[in-house]
Amino acid sequence: MENFITQNPTKLIFGKGSAARISGEIPADARVMVLYGGGSIKKNGAYDDVMAALRGRRVTEFGGIEPNPKYETLMKAVEAARAAETDYLLAVGGGSVIDGTKFIACALRYDGANPWDFLVDPALLKPVRPLPLAAVLTLPATGSEMNNGGVISRYSTGEKLAFHHNEVFPRFSVLDPCYCFTLPDRQVANGIVDTFAHVLEQYLTYPSQAMVQDRFAEGILLTLKEIAQPLMADHTDYDLMSNFMIAATMGLNGYIAWGVPQDWATHMIGHELTALHGLDHGVTLAIVYPALMQVLREPKAEKLLQYGERVWNIDAGSREARIDATIARTRAFFESLGIRTRLSDYGIGVSTIDAIVKRFSDRGWKLGERADVGPDTVRLILEAAM
Ligand code: NZQ
Ligand code: ZN
Repeated sequence: MENFITQNPTKLIFGKGSAARISGEIPADARVMVLYGGGSIKKNGAYDDVMAALRGRRVTEFGGIEPNPKYETLMKAVEAARAAETDYLLAVGGGSVIDGTKFIACALRYDGANPWDFLVDPALLKPVRPLPLAAVLTLPATGSEMNNGGVISRYSTGEKLAFHHNEVFPRFSVLDPCYCFTLPDRQVANGIVDTFAHVLEQYLTYPSQAMVQDRFAEGILLTLKEIAQPLMADHTDYDLMSNFMIAATMGLNGYIAWGVPQDWATHMIGHELTALHGLDHGVTLAIVYPALMQVLREPKAEKLLQYGERVWNIDAGSREARIDATIARTRAFFESLGIRTRLSDYGIGVSTIDAIVKRFSDRGWKLGERADVGPDTVRLILEAAM
């Protein structure tokens, strides 16, 4: 096991009716800005509950943060928050709203002229002391409700970049499964794939003798396998949605990352597919992961075999046959959620592969748990995803 230091300061407030507790968590004299997306929170009860909990407080609101939150929109929120002298941000929505709010919290306290710069150069973000923020989650997927990361897109340049800062962990996050009952099939499917992929990024690497972390990771994968079809059939089952929420939060709150190598190549490649073609984040992962497993089957062989045996019960046949079967089961799982897993299914071809390879080459990125996945390997992965 590798050395590690861990601390996760986010308080989770879980269960039906939990939004009522918000008022006790936010300082009484705070000037709060409530941030949300395109309006789903007005249909699932979250908006009404949050506003009721904040009645009598100094509250402003900013709506319209889009999926894959855009820099241009978020900068409008920064202006509005400045004008209202906001000192506490409350995100109500999915990963995009929470990520966008994390960015706004940093941008409000950034001295430079152009906050995009701190996404390009993380050293610029280090001295920034972001505004406090909290979240009410309505879409289990990203883990943003209990982590220190965010991903921001930019219309003008077609870029999508991630950032991390230890002071953007939400102070608290409300997880009420009832708010998720209104999710469309597409977003439940995306969320299941995203959670599954987060676990794989921290698990499907090489053995590191982290037995407990491995079993936790497999526990999340097995839970997703078990609840996926019933949840797709009924999004209003409280217990299924509760377990989905816990799986998603635990998938990327740092716990399964203790002392283990991490990959994240699938995510980095997937972000480019979203940036260039607007594909949903979950869809990009369903396309890239099976192809990445195929191309990197040798360096990942030991964990592929362990994953195949413990999650998919694949324990017979030659080593190569077991790996083949494991990759096929993973692809079939994603497709069983109604997500197609080939670039060609989305009309994406060679010109996109060239563009992504060029971007990685220009940035000098080496991806993967061994930092050895360069542009040539990225090309092989994307070709295998055709
Ligand atoms: O905008 P509204 O009207 O709220 O609708 C949203 C949006 O259209 C809708 N939705 C959310 N909750 C709903 C609902 N519709 C009905 N009922 C509800 N209860 O769902 C749509 C998608 O929402 P979005 O927030 O974009 O989805 P998700 O949570 O999957 O977030 C995706 C973003 O998170 C980033 C992704 O790259 C992407 O930009 N990620 C963030 C990570 C992190 N912070 O750690 C890690 C992830 O790997 C990921 O990269
Ligand atoms: Zn993800």
